[in-house]
Amino acid sequence: MTADLVVVGSGFFGLTIAERAATELGLNVTVIDRRDHIGGNAYSETEAQTGIEVHRYGAHLFHTSNEKVWDYVNRFTTFTNYVHRVYGVHKGEVFPLPINLGTINQFFRANYTPAEARALIADQAGELAGTDPQNLNDKGIQLIGRPLYEAFIKHYTGKQWQTDPKDLPAGIISRLPVRYTYDNRYFNDTYEGLPTQGYTAWIERMADHPNITVTLSTDFFDESQPISKGNTVGNVPVIYTGAVDKYFDYAEGDLSWRTIDFEKEVLNTGDFQGTSVVNYNDAEVPYTRIIEPRHFHPERNYQTDKTIIMREFSRFAEKGDEPYYPVNTEADRAKLLAYRDLAKAEDNVLFGGRLGTYKYLDMHMAIGSALSMYENKIKPHFEGGEKLE
Ligand code: FAD
Ligand code: NA
Repeated sequence: MTADLVVVGSGFFGLTIAERAATELGLNVTVIDRRDHIGGNAYSETEAQTGIEVHRYGAHLFHTSNEKVWDYVNRFTTFTNYVHRVYGVHKGEVFPLPINLGTINQFFRANYTPAEARALIADQAGELAGTDPQNLNDKGIQLIGRPLYEAFIKHYTGKQWQTDPKDLPAGIISRLPVRYTYDNRYFNDTYEGLPTQGYTAWIERMADHPNITVTLSTDFFDESQPISKGNTVGNVPVIYTGAVDKYFDYAEGDLSWRTIDFEKEVLNTGDFQGTSVVNYNDAEVPYTRIIEPRHFHPERNYQTDKTIIMREFSRFAEKGDEPYYPVNTEADRAKLLAYRDLAKAEDNVLFGGRLGTYKYLDMHMAIGSALSMYENKIKPHFEGGEKLE
């Protein structure tokens, strides 16, 4: 079957394009992925010793307020009523996060009303009032005051960036939300939940169409295989969701990323921490947080004598590491502009997804942006002969 459309990358962006083009336009779509599984970073698998669903590339929580995206994803999966909450350990004590009235009253050993707490934080933030913070440390103090900043933000951020916040640009944060209620629901979106049968079942259903062929363990830049860059570009339209700098052989330089090392451990206990995510906000603990995946699915009958936990260590990515979060320095932004010009000029190739656009995208954003690309570019091209650029 010859392809009408080639999609590079089987993450949510690539699969959304493939599914729409196959289902609505009846196109033959070939999807390739260099990994040996589909789903990109949302891929999950059953851990053998415990039977617990583990997200291989880090915990993935689905949430959206976008009706179009919500309708679309519900074609492929149902969602549980999981509601995400995060706790943080500071000086041997557990606090609810994000910072809320419960956090504030526990931290200051008080029973402030919302108005009193607001006045207190405004007063503490006043330490740097009228100044123009030049680094993240001063910015944090100016936003929420020194005590809460130093307890909950400073060292956690320092560990995320492996850099003292005094040496980080103030621009990394524009706001630090403080809630003057006891609401510690992590996301504010209309819809939230986890795929009932897991991420991989959802992803497989998206690819399950007679017109979609998925070829795994196949790198677009491997010219010895038939769906390579050299063999496809110019002959068949390509949707490329790999790294934009790699596509152009790093002509404008490398874009920088942060990555995470996951340290997995199976424990002989049914419950390690009583919740899915606990942050470690102090400098002495080298990891940023511990994930305990069994708590993502309390409705499942997981075995109760074992659990699995993952400690997360954050660092700058080197070549060969998984790129997770764009660092987005000024130099990166300049390179990205140059890559965007190159991408625009590359006829019959569209760049999408988090690697193709060098943007952190939540799943609902990746899916939403793929649906837009489909409606605005791919459909008009195949139905009306518009140029694909
Ligand atoms: P990806 O999923 O990265 O897919 C790109 C695919 O392209 C990959 O499978 C890759 O192997 C393939 N590819 C790359 N280069 C080539 C090549 N040369 N040849 C062939 N194939 C290639 N989102 C949420 O909504 N909630 C969360 O809680 C959440 N948590 C996250 C936690 C972490 C640690 C990370 C990194 C991301 C998280 N996300 C979360 C974001 C989510 O992973 C993305 O929205 C999603 O992965 C975007 O899909 P994508 O298709 O753009 O990219
Ligand atoms: Na293009």
